[in-house]
Amino acid sequence: MPRLRRRARQLPLPGMEVARGRRRRSAGRGGIVRRLHGSLGTAPITRRRMLEGTLAWVTAAIAAALGIPALAAWISPALRKETQDWVPVGSLADPGPGQPDLNVVGEPVATSFTRLVQDAYLAAQPQPVAVFVVNHGDGKFTVFDNRCTHLGCPVNWKEESRQYFSPCHGGVFDEDGRVLGGPPPRPLDRYAYKVEQDVLYAGELFQVNENLQRITQ
Ligand code: FES
Repeated sequence: MPRLRRRARQLPLPGMEVARGRRRRSAGRGGIVRRLHGSLGTAPITRRRMLEGTLAWVTAAIAAALGIPALAAWISPALRKETQDWVPVGSLADPGPGQPDLNVVGEPVATSFTRLVQDAYLAAQPQPVAVFVVNHGDGKFTVFDNRCTHLGCPVNWKEESRQYFSPCHGGVFDEDGRVLGGPPPRPLDRYAYKVEQDVLYAGELFQVNENLQRITQ
């Protein structure tokens, strides 16, 4: 009988194994929680941990200080916008000393005017805008933007060939601004113009297609 009682104590009763398994799993979870708690919550703040934390914050601050202006500089050209106001390019009656004569007919005249340009994150700033003005006679003009339509290099006028050349990648435009060669995707852009009281004014910048028809407003 004593032997039978001993065996009965050793045999698992129904449900006993399940209960033991639960206890083991719960002890395991408790161990993980205890480990996490120890590493996050109650671990003592050592000098090393404090230094590591400080270093991480300083690194993040430097990255933000360097990265934000760089990002702004990167995206600002895409968001740059010239104001639409009419601005004087030059007087036809009296060009003034040292100013290009816009009365010359049939020859591109390199000149510039000042216009407010709105950057992405800056207040509008006055900036010089370089153009070629062609006087066709009878009060008709073309005011070419001098930036190449490929990547914006300033183009040069060559009288011998009567073409505009972009020095950067070999873009070539004829005297009406049409693309003759190289990578530029469209003719030279133009400015709207008007003449009032013998003063030539430039308005908004617009693009034209190969037929020189305006394609942007
Ligand atoms: S910028 Fe003119 S060809 Fe590239």
